[in-house]
Amino acid sequence: MIGRLNHVAIVVADLAAASEVYRHTLGARVSEPVELPEHGVTTVFVELPNTKIELLHPLGADSPISGFLHKHPAGAIHHLCYEVADIGAAAETLRKRGMRILGDGKPKLGAHDKPVLFLHPKDFCGTLIELEQL
Ligand code: CO
Repeated sequence: MIGRLNHVAIVVADLAAASEVYRHTLGARVSEPVELPEHGVTTVFVELPNTKIELLHPLGADSPISGFLHKHPAGAIHHLCYEVADIGAAAETLRKRGMRILGDGKPKLGAHDKPVLFLHPKDFCGTLIELEQL
């Protein structure tokens, strides 16, 4: 069902400092910050040859990642994103297999304007999983 690893998301305390680490210390290609008010995050994308790293920082008072940053003030891996060909079919199959989809269970447009879903970490080895339809 799942295909390539699309990205690994890391919540960081300081987007500029994290961008510096990836751009200058590690020598990667790093985007400018993009604010996504409807998701309550500001993102920076790091392009690697085989995947991406998504640096996330809370945006606005009730960002869904504020609590996570509070628990992990030094920053931490937040989720993994796997690609799927058909997100509706993937959701239905996972539901039949007893897996929990977060929120209302319906795909939403994610950071790349592609439909995404999030899966319950307790069903997936303690890891928050994002599915993205290409
Ligand atoms: Co993501």
